[in-house]
Amino acid sequence: MYTTQDEQRLYNLAKTLMDADGENAESTIIQLREVLNYADWKYYVQSEPVLADVEYDTLFKKLQRLEEQHPEYVTADSPTQRVAKGLSEKFPAVSHLVPMLSLDNTYNADDLRDWDRRCKELAGTDDIEYCAEPKYDGASISIIYENGQLARGATRGDGVMGEEVTTNIKQIRSIPLSAAFTKAGINQIEIRGEVVINKDVFTAYNTQRIAEGLSPLANPRNAASGTLRILDPAEVGKRKLSAILYHISYYTQTGDAIPDALHTHYGSLNWLYELGFPTPVKEMKRFRSIDEVIAFCEAFEVRRDDLPYEVDGLVIKVNSFALQDKMGMTTHHPRWAVAYKFKARQATSKLLRVEFQVGRTGSVTPVAKIEPVPIGGVTVSSISLFNEDVVREKDLHIGDTVLVERAGDVIPYIVKPLAELRNGTEEKIIFPTHCPVCNEELEKPEEEAVWRCINISCPAQVVERIIHFASKDAMDIRNMGDANVRKFYELGLLKNIPAIYTINWDEVSKLGGFGEKSVTNLQTAIDNSKQQPLNRVIYGLGIRHVGETMAKTLANAVTHIRDLYDYTEEQLLALDDVGPKVAASVLHFFHTQENRHMIDLLEQAGVNLVNQKRNTPQGSGELEGKTFLFTGTLSRFKRSDAEAMVEAKGGTLLSSVSSKLNYLVVGEDAGSKLEKAKKLGTVAILSEDEFLGLING
Ligand code: IVH
Repeated sequence: MYTTQDEQRLYNLAKTLMDADGENAESTIIQLREVLNYADWKYYVQSEPVLADVEYDTLFKKLQRLEEQHPEYVTADSPTQRVAKGLSEKFPAVSHLVPMLSLDNTYNADDLRDWDRRCKELAGTDDIEYCAEPKYDGASISIIYENGQLARGATRGDGVMGEEVTTNIKQIRSIPLSAAFTKAGINQIEIRGEVVINKDVFTAYNTQRIAEGLSPLANPRNAASGTLRILDPAEVGKRKLSAILYHISYYTQTGDAIPDALHTHYGSLNWLYELGFPTPVKEMKRFRSIDEVIAFCEAFEVRRDDLPYEVDGLVIKVNSFALQDKMGMTTHHPRWAVAYKFKARQATSKLLRVEFQVGRTGSVTPVAKIEPVPIGGVTVSSISLFNEDVVREKDLHIGDTVLVERAGDVIPYIVKPLAELRNGTEEKIIFPTHCPVCNEELEKPEEEAVWRCINISCPAQVVERIIHFASKDAMDIRNMGDANVRKFYELGLLKNIPAIYTINWDEVSKLGGFGEKSVTNLQTAIDNSKQQPLNRVIYGLGIRHVGETMAKTLANAVTHIRDLYDYTEEQLLALDDVGPKVAASVLHFFHTQENRHMIDLLEQAGVNLVNQKRNTPQGSGELEGKTFLFTGTLSRFKRSDAEAMVEAKGGTLLSSVSSKLNYLVVGEDAGSKLEKAKKLGTVAILSEDEFLGLING
C-alpha cells in the first residue's frame, strides 16, 4: 500500500506540516489529508503509530481549521469527515447486494474430513487448496465502495435486509474512507467483515460503567453489535471498535480481465490489505490437505486467548474462486466454506444462593453462588450479578438452572436462566433494604443501578478502602494483601488508612504466622510506601470516579495535596478529561472533614503529599529537556520503574519515535520502533546497561 519511500515522504511531510503551512490552502489540505490517512493506517491497521498523539491532534486541528475556511476543498475521504453529527432517524433498512449467508459448522476432525470429501465431490477434483483464518466473534457488516469512496455500511440484519449504519462505520478508524479501487478497474465493490471490540477495551469500558453505577455490557460480541446501532456517532467513536474484513462478496469492473489478485481468497485478502484494509493476512494460512488444516485448527484453539479479540473458531475456505463458483451455495451457507467451532465456553449449573457484597464505595453487589462447574479449564462457582437491574432483566430465581458463559479473559457471567426447567420450587431473589454488614439503610441514587450503604464507617467499606490504598497500583505495599488487612482489622490492629503507619508490631509478632522476617518485610514495605509519588496517594484515597489517570491529572495540577482543598468546580473542570461527575466527587471528598483529618494523619506519619516534580526547581533535573522511549522486553527492570527513573530526573517520556526523541532504550525483541529510530539517525539507541549508566551519571 505504501512503499518505504512513500512512508519516508509522508513522515517528513507530517513533520514539516506541524510547523508550517504548504504553498496554498488547497495543497496543504491535500497534504494533511494524505498524512493523516497514512497515520490512521499505521495506527489502526498496522498497530505501529508514527505520530505522537499531540502531533496527530495538531495536524488534525490544522486540517479542520483550513477546511472551515475553504469548505470547497473538503472531500468525503477527509479524516475530519469521520466526525459526524448525530443521526436524526433510526437506521433505514437496506437490501444487501448479495445475501449475507451463514456458515455450516463443524466441531471435530471427523466433521472436517466429511466436509473435505464433499468439497472434492462437488469440485470434481482432489486437488483443493484450503485457506484457514479466525472466526471473529463480533457483529458482521457489509461495506460498499463506489468509485473508490466508502458509500455505504450496513449490519447483517436478516441476511437479505440490513440496517444502514454508514455514519457509525465511519467511526471505525481502521476502515478506509477511500481506496484505490478505480485504479484496479473496479467501480463498485462490496466487502464483508466483522466489527469487534478488543477484550482490553471491553474490560476497561465495563469497569468504567460499573464505577458509574451502570450495568455492564454482557460480552464483547453484544457490545460490538450494540455499539453499531447507537444513534450518537461521537459515542460510537469513543467505544473504539475494530474491524476485520474477510470476504469480497461482489464487484463490478470496467475492463474484462479479472484483476490478478481476484482469483483466490488468499490473494484477495492480501490485495485488500495492500489497499489499506484490515484483513487477517497475518493469521491466515494455506493448506494442501485436510490433515494439515486439522492440525492447524487444534493448535490454534490452544492459542485462542492470545488474540486481542474474541474468536469462536476458525473458518476454512476453498481458496480458488473458480472452484468456489463451481461448488455454489445452499440458501443457508456457501458450500465452499465451513466453520470449525472451538469448544463451547458455556455450561449449565444451578443457582444456589445470592450473596450481597459491600464494596469500597458502599456499592452493594449481588453475587451468584452456583454449583461449581468447569468452563474452558477454570472452575466457576461465584459470578457477579452487578446490580438489581441485571437480576430483574434476566428474571433469575434461586434454584434456577442457569446458562453460564466465560469468554476468554472476560469474567464469567450468567447468560440466562433456563426457565423451561423450572419445577415450581424456585424462589425470588430478595434484595436487602439494609447493609448486610453494618445494617445502615441502603440508598439508591437516581440514575444509578446500584444500591449503596452510605455509612462511610461501615466496616466492609473501611476494609476495602485499606486494601485499595495498599494495592499494587496505589501505594504498592507488598505483603499487605486482602488477607492481612482483614485479619488486622478484625483484631483491632488496623482501623483506617493512616493506621497502616502506626501498627502495633508487638501485637502483630504475637500472631501466628508472623515471624521476624515477615514482620520486617511488611514494615519495610510500609516504610517505602511513604515515598510514593503524589498521584499514587491520590489514587489510593479511593475518591469516586478518580482512577489512575485522573489521579495523575490531579497530582500534576498541584504542588501539595492541600491545594485541592481550594480548587473550585471551574478550576477542576478546566483540567484534562475532568467532567462534572469527577469534579463533584473531588470537591465533595476534599470538603469532607474526616478526609481532611485523614490527610493530616498521613502527613504526620511521613507520607509524601507533595508533587515532587513541581517542587524540583526548573532545570535541576539532570535529564531536564531530554526525551525517552522504551521498546522491547526489558530484563533488568520493569518498564514502569524505568519510566519513573526518567521522570524523577526531570526527563520526559514520549510515546513514539519522532525527531523529538533523544533516547530509545531497547530491550529484547525490539521491533519497528528500533528500525525507525535507526532510519531517523538522530536518536541515541541505548541498551538497558547504558541506560542505567546514564541514570546513575
Ligand atoms: S465468511 C459467504 N469468514 O460468522 C461468506 N465469516 O457463523 C460467509 N464470521 O455470518 C462468511 N469470521 O458473520 C467468514 N473469517 C470469517 C468469519 C466469518 C466471522 C461470521 C460471519 C458469518 C458467521 C457465521
